[in-house]
Amino acid sequence: MGIEVRDARADDDAALARIDVLTWTSAGSPAPPPAPGTPFFSDRTRPDDVLVAEVDGAVAGYVALGDTLPIPAHRHVREIRGLAVDPGLGRRGVGRALVLAAVDRAARAGAVKVGLRVLGPNTGARRLYARCGFGIEGVLRGEFRIDGVLVDDVLMATFPGGEPPRPAARSAAPPGQRPESSSWERADRLDETRRRLRTLEALAAALRRPADVAAAVTAAPDRPTAAAALQELLGVAADEAHAVLQMQWGRLTGDTLPRIEEDVRELRADLRDLGDDR
Ligand SMILES: CC(C)(COP(=O)(O)OP(=O)(O)OC[C@H]1O[C@@H](n2cnc3c(N)ncnc32)[C@H](O)[C@@H]1OP(=O)(O)O)[C@@H](O)C(=O)NCCC(=O)NCCS
Repeated sequence: MGIEVRDARADDDAALARIDVLTWTSAGSPAPPPAPGTPFFSDRTRPDDVLVAEVDGAVAGYVALGDTLPIPAHRHVREIRGLAVDPGLGRRGVGRALVLAAVDRAARAGAVKVGLRVLGPNTGARRLYARCGFGIEGVLRGEFRIDGVLVDDVLMATFPGGEPPRPAARSAAPPGQRPESSSWERADRLDETRRRLRTLEALAAALRRPADVAAAVTAAPDRPTAAAALQELLGVAADEAHAVLQMQWGRLTGDTLPRIEEDVRELRADLRDLGDDR
């Protein structure tokens, strides 16, 4: 299978709009699904901002680049604004080829840093970005409410020419030890991944016992009591009990639990990758 990445052309519009429709899920995007017939290109996304992957000559995916802050002090930063691969061609390296090509293109155009935002539950994309050299810069907790659940937005970035120097206090490390900054980053990522895993495990536990959860919540006179009852019932901590309370049960479908279970497996794999020793 030959993957070729090229500049987008105006006549890619229909193929890219189709990929957007095919790939939209609430785990991948906080925006509503694209309305049928919505053109792909717009004033915000011009062909010049987009790279297209072709597999055996057919359009297979795209990556879009943009600028977040139009001021001179931010000119060295580019942002990956969109990435999608035809689901029929997933897990064959197309996404990776696109991300690496976008970083390369940004760097050639003078970018020192390439950033992006990815939803916390989008573990596949997060892993792809991590494999392409992106590190987590921060997490906007509960940034979106999606399907009734507060969802984090994860900020990631890569520095194609090498990371900027750290402040002295954080970069000094005794001989033979890893620099303090990298252990801080690892600890942050571990904490964040463990926290998300706890939340998703609590949601999965609740979805396996919907009748018991409903009984515990409806018997409680107020939300604090309901949260305490869920802590007891599910054996979870307060934050996780509140996450269960925030679920919009009326919007659940048959695939919600399998999707959460898949995310749990992904997060456990992430923890193993991070060398979690708990
Ligand atoms: C995310 C997406 C672009 C990945 O494209 P892709 O072509 O399937 O990705 P690749 O084949 O290049 O994957 C490279 C690596 O990323 C990781 N990865 C990609 N998709 C993954 C998934 N669903 N689950 C776990 N890991 C995944 C894996 O490490 C993979 O390597 P491997 O296949 O050797 O294990 C694609 O699934 C997609 O279009 N998703 C919907 C849109 C979206 O979420 N975009 C990101 C918005 S921020």
